[in-house]
Amino acid sequence: MVNPELARAESLIREIADYPEPGILFRDITPLLADAEALRVTTAALLEPFTGTFDVVAGIEARGFLLAGAAAIAAGVGLVPIRKAGKLPRPAASVDYALEYGTATIEMHDDLPAGTRVLLIDDVLATGGTLAAGRRLVEQLGCVVAGISVLFEIDGLGGRELTGDLHTVFRSA
Ligand code: PRP
Repeated sequence: MVNPELARAESLIREIADYPEPGILFRDITPLLADAEALRVTTAALLEPFTGTFDVVAGIEARGFLLAGAAAIAAGVGLVPIRKAGKLPRPAASVDYALEYGTATIEMHDDLPAGTRVLLIDDVLATGGTLAAGRRLVEQLGCVVAGISVLFEIDGLGGRELTGDLHTVFRSA
């Protein structure tokens, strides 16, 4: 059964044609974030399958930070940022991953005890490269990925083949 509050939150996602490049239909979540009730219900839905299974949330730069911050407060846990290369003052681990053209790198500090259960949060799964790299990063630091939670997945890009199982709040796009 569709949760009407969640359906309303999803309806606030704005579709922008030809952004950031011609032919791409961008799903802009900023109107959802700006609405208190939509943000509350969406945050709860990101967390719902993982109750009691994680010790901390990790958000992936940049839109993942917004959701992970809200989720950390709602769940009563701390927040760890996973940042693009060169943004953290003392990175302890870094993972390179493939983009359509070239590579990217994400980094994380080593502030969690070994075995900490980490819930990875981001806004969207596309090719899966970013979240798969996030998983490797957490594991490199001796922590455990309790799960991966995103707002939605872009179908047809094979993202789950890289990340493994994950939870999506909204229907795929
Ligand atoms: C977007 C999105 C995810 C990633 C998904 O981030 O927020 O992190 O791409 O793509 P993938 O599954 O193909 O790896 P982006 O790098 O555009 O950064 P931003 O959040 O800073 O805009």
